[in-house]
Amino acid sequence: MFGDYEKFKKEVWTLTKIDLDAYKEKQMKRRIETLINKNGLKDYPPYVEMIRKEKDKFDQFVNFLTINVSEFYRNPEQWKLLDKEVFPHLIERFGKNLKIWSAACSTGDEPYSLVMALSRHLPLNQIRIHATDIDKQVLDAARMGLYTEKSIAAVPPDLKKKYFTKVGNSWQISTEIKSRVDFKEHNLLRDPYPAGNHLIVCRNVLIYFTEEAKDEIFKKFNTALVKDGNLFIGSTEQIMNYQDLHYEKAQAFFFRKV
Ligand SMILES: C[S@@+](CC[C@H](N)C(=O)[O-])C[C@H]1O[C@@H](n2cnc3c(N)ncnc32)[C@H](O)[C@@H]1O
Repeated sequence: MFGDYEKFKKEVWTLTKIDLDAYKEKQMKRRIETLINKNGLKDYPPYVEMIRKEKDKFDQFVNFLTINVSEFYRNPEQWKLLDKEVFPHLIERFGKNLKIWSAACSTGDEPYSLVMALSRHLPLNQIRIHATDIDKQVLDAARMGLYTEKSIAAVPPDLKKKYFTKVGNSWQISTEIKSRVDFKEHNLLRDPYPAGNHLIVCRNVLIYFTEEAKDEIFKKFNTALVKDGNLFIGSTEQIMNYQDLHYEKAQAFFFRKV
């Protein structure tokens, strides 16, 4: 039997600075309890002791909590819109020095896809992507840049040929692409947001947050965008009250700051 979740949330905050109040509770609680059981325990207090003492268990917990599946060109039809409509519009409106932020970038699949997609429009040396995530481990993996066949399946064949090398069973992304991305730890619920962005890409993370937390983040993204800058969200996400939050719909899954 699991006991006091409220107390557990406070302890998790102290240990990890992850605010579980902002995540949908039923779903998160069920996931955490499954993980605790998998570790052979039946309640929160012994598990808190375990993650306090054992670094690998702590890392496992943070990694698990933050749900970090990703892949290159995730939902390719949205990337087509980015290529055909959004990038040309942004370049026409703001010029070639675009400030782009991949927020909650996980293992790098998303920011590296942004570099490759933008390389159809701009020379590589003019591209810079700021990429952030709360989870140090995924950022380390992103900096390493080794991917499975499955995660790069949607990369256009010419770009795959140009920018990936097979290493054993994995694919190594080239230094040319890697060097265009700056990775940094950042908690969307807590840390200050970088300002002056022309495009913010934040996909498949807000689905885990409460409506209040989501609204707060959409407001902060709005402040972090320049006027006419775009917010690109995931294919299962929507912003119901986008007008109240000072966005207009530019394309499906793209919202423009008014
Ligand atoms: C499912 S992945 C999405 C990756 C990528 N954006 C995509 O669509 O493929 C969700 C990511 O959100 C990150 N995340 C979770 N909570 C976060 C927070 N409070 N601040 C920043 N990143 C967070 C996780 O660490 C994870 O890497």
